[in-house]
Amino acid sequence: VERTRLDDELKAELLELQSRNLLRPRPETARPQTGLVDVCSNDYLGYGRLPVSRETSTGSPGAGASRLIFGTHAAHLELERELADWVHCEAALLFSSGYVANLAALAALIKPDDVVVSDELNHASLIDGCRLSRATVVVARHRDLQAMEGALSQASARRRWVVTESYFSMDGDSPDLPKLRDLCDRRGAYLYVDEAHALGVFGPEGSGMARNVGVRPDVLVGTLGKAVGVQGAFVAGSTPLIDFLWNRARGFVFSTATSPMLTGVIRESVRRLRNDDGARARLRDLCQLFADLLCRTGAGLPEERHGPIFPILFARPERALEVAAALRREGFLAQAIRPPTVPTGTSRIRITLHADLTPLEVTRLAMLIGEQCPGS
Ligand SMILES: Cc1ncc(COP(=O)(O)O)c(C=O)c1O
Repeated sequence: VERTRLDDELKAELLELQSRNLLRPRPETARPQTGLVDVCSNDYLGYGRLPVSRETSTGSPGAGASRLIFGTHAAHLELERELADWVHCEAALLFSSGYVANLAALAALIKPDDVVVSDELNHASLIDGCRLSRATVVVARHRDLQAMEGALSQASARRRWVVTESYFSMDGDSPDLPKLRDLCDRRGAYLYVDEAHALGVFGPEGSGMARNVGVRPDVLVGTLGKAVGVQGAFVAGSTPLIDFLWNRARGFVFSTATSPMLTGVIRESVRRLRNDDGARARLRDLCQLFADLLCRTGAGLPEERHGPIFPILFARPERALEVAAALRREGFLAQAIRPPTVPTGTSRIRITLHADLTPLEVTRLAMLIGEQCPGS
């Protein structure tokens, strides 16, 4: 194949990434199916690996159109009602992914003359959604309520917003949602909470962190490809909010509706998950065991970390790569997470535990990490 100048320029950029140990090579084989124990996926309850029953996958494979044109099927309406009920909101709207949900909802709701206070460790989809809104964005230090309050008190804007995750995907910590709600109320701001990694894991029926601490966000986002184990996302809130997004969220309006067949699979998974306190308890026990063992081996964990996400931090990206390779040789699939996904100097192995791991596997993993990073 003949290469163009564009190809040469892109190759140069890739080489530059490689020279900084930041290149992600595109795999030529599928993810390993056997042998390696997954301690890196977001499949916290192991649902993504469950077989789908024939009765569950009965809907048509394609929705045929966007929701507004001709693509709204009974399965969508049913799932949206159940999702709203799950997170105790009036209504919910399905999106094709969490990335799209955040991009579309933030860009629709936040206007150029608004001010948004955004936690510095927010996910790329939240950052990009804020940028797309063209509002003034103030990036606040991670979970720093004072910084957020300062930013809100200085802002003279039509509307003010605070945008945060409820369980940070790379750090495994959480904002103080009750205090954040209080701050928003005092400063006349709206609270936008992304529950991507909290849903299924925390709260009654796994309904997330907000319900767990009795906080009602103005906008709540949940994803369906993590603990729910399938794909997609939803925004939940008041009926006017959802009616507005139905009309104005471009990533929803101008996109083919989720496959009705897949929607049925999601609904079954959500139903199962709501009733699966057993899996949540197993996960909690494994997390406690792992945290205790890591503590004993001397491998440090950030103080505020909790739940199934365990960041093991390294100053240099190459050290994270070496430790990931060592764990792989011992049968564990853990990924090195490097900039730009995380800030420079905070490369890490991000371990995620799942309810279907065994205590023996978790113990072995903790021992291996202890050997690799004594006192890291
Ligand atoms: C906080 C957060 N929001 C949104 C997303 C995107 O969700 P999805 O993978 O469904 O696009 C992620 C995924 O990593 C996430 O961590």
